[in-house]
Amino acid sequence: MKKIHVAAEKPYDVLLEAGSFGAAGKYIQPYCKNGYAAIVTDDTVDGFYGGMLEEALSREGIRTVKFVIPHGESSKNAETYVTLLEFLAENRLTRQDLMIALGGGVVGDLAGFAAATFLRGIPYMQIPTTLLAMVDSSVGGKTAIDLRAGKNLAGAFYQPAAVICDPDLLHTLPEAYQADGVAEVIKYGVLGSASLFTHLQEKGTAFDRTAVIGECIAMKSDIVQRDERDIGVRQLLNFGHTIGHAIEKNSRYAVSHGRAVAIGMVLMAKSAARAGLCGEEVATEIAEVCRIFGLPTATEYTAESLYDAMLSDKKRTGDTVTLVVPETIGKCRLHPISVPGLLPFLKQGME
Ligand code: NAD
Ligand code: GLY
Repeated sequence: MKKIHVAAEKPYDVLLEAGSFGAAGKYIQPYCKNGYAAIVTDDTVDGFYGGMLEEALSREGIRTVKFVIPHGESSKNAETYVTLLEFLAENRLTRQDLMIALGGGVVGDLAGFAAATFLRGIPYMQIPTTLLAMVDSSVGGKTAIDLRAGKNLAGAFYQPAAVICDPDLLHTLPEAYQADGVAEVIKYGVLGSASLFTHLQEKGTAFDRTAVIGECIAMKSDIVQRDERDIGVRQLLNFGHTIGHAIEKNSRYAVSHGRAVAIGMVLMAKSAARAGLCGEEVATEIAEVCRIFGLPTATEYTAESLYDAMLSDKKRTGDTVTLVVPETIGKCRLHPISVPGLLPFLKQGME
């Protein structure tokens, strides 16, 4: 069992081991002394793993209730959020009880936000079931729902009590969703690990799941403990996300998060190259590795429509948007740009 410690304001461990889900009850029990937990999951994940988790918890004497959302980004909204809060209230969860988010980034973000706000905060654990959630969303305490105006516009920083990460759960994850997670792994490679990037280039879909997940979690943990509140170095984790969120919003979430981020990384690298901030080969390499995993590298949306959506992004402060630009594969930096300068910057990467 690999334990990755996240020294956030409220510290916790990520337990990483293939097969650990089978012993989930044993790992969860110390965090659930009151013997009562609410499981939040989606309908697909519930079909595979919901019953197993309920049984594992029951064996430890933990009573459970379960809230199941329809799968997909469209569940990460205000209506589902309020319904979940009402469910927790009806089932009389208290601050001594536990919430368990079992699923991908959608379940984790929604359940985490509900845990942050129900009774002004109840403890929760993350059991990520997608590659994206394992390498990124289950760690770091960013929780959120989408609003009509854009992605993740209501949320909280709220760290989990622990994360149980079992790469074996990926055996049931369809290839397209695996690729969404790879987009975030590519992101980690570009922003901080050329060797991780090379591993993906060389191994393709046969990359070493457990080792790669471990490296990404360790990178994320390091960044989060240096900047939990996203005011400095943590913003590097947004590489590809400002354009990516705009694509997701414009497509009404028909384009998945991972795919939108892949396009966002390629377009951002192209714009950065045209602006003389990195070499053209950086954009070429990112696009090539995306193609290996069947990830898209271009969008039908115009620069103007993306620019419009980007103005409601969280990363805008007044008249400035902080972009993340690559310098080389393995190094990115923050690049504040004025709102009027954003459209021409974006356009040059899309010509
Ligand atoms: P998702 O949660 O929608 O999961 C993708 C699909 O896979 C769903 O249909 C789900 O039912 C299915 N699934 C999940 N696990 C499965 C399994 N083991 N076997 C079979 N099917 C399974 O999508 P995602 O890509 O995990 O997460 C995307 C979300 O994460 C977005 O909302 C994004 O904004 C968010 N995100 C958050 C952070 C953060 O730091 N909080 C970081 C990155 C992304
Ligand atoms: N996924 C971006 C972050 O956690 O900061």
